[in-house]
Amino acid sequence: MIIAVDGPAASGKGTLATGLARHYGLAHLDTGLLYRAVGLAVRDHVDAPDFEARAIAAARALDAAHLTNIEELTGAEAGMFASRVAVIAKVRVAMRQYQRDFAHQPGGAVLDGRDIGTVVCPDADVKLFIVADSKARMERRARQLEAKGQVVDRYALYHQIEERDARDMANPNGGFYKAPDAVLLDTTQLGIEAALQAAVAIVDEAMAQK
Ligand code: DC
Repeated sequence: MIIAVDGPAASGKGTLATGLARHYGLAHLDTGLLYRAVGLAVRDHVDAPDFEARAIAAARALDAAHLTNIEELTGAEAGMFASRVAVIAKVRVAMRQYQRDFAHQPGGAVLDGRDIGTVVCPDADVKLFIVADSKARMERRARQLEAKGQVVDRYALYHQIEERDARDMANPNGGFYKAPDAVLLDTTQLGIEAALQAAVAIVDEAMAQK
């Protein structure tokens, strides 16, 4: 079984993908980490003329060993660099096979990202598209950061989320839209448990219809 979970920044897709993987005993890949690792690898070259070439080379050289420094990878800075490299078509192509191989491992997998249901795994058994309004997403991200002891400027955070959404959405190479066969789940009013229950219900129903 392959489950695709797509949605914008801080929509809750990562938490849901983790919960679904645990519930069904599947492996899980947060594909945002791949873009984040490439973004960090070229962070010092964003204004260089060979920025694209460097990003493509970093994407081609990427392997699981680069995905271990979770603390740095999940930070806001890595997210901004990630969305810069994610617009480069050859970066996306370089990472596609890694993601597909992960998806097709024996036993199945849950992948979360932006283009899993549309580009990476159009053949996924179940596709979820997670949304939540930007204020709710900002508030969740703010609490996550505060839980880590960071001081949060909510106004700046809100604008950062909007800016990243705009870049992701405008990405002509992104495939970031709801696949026609994806089920929309709006988590604005849902806590983590309620959202996970709703996601499990969607997966169970989709599998029952197979
Ligand atoms: O989901 P995230 O916040 O970790 O993603 C970080 C950035 O990576 C996001 O701005 C867009 C990009 N991304 C992408 O283009 N395609 C994916 N499948 C996952 C992430």
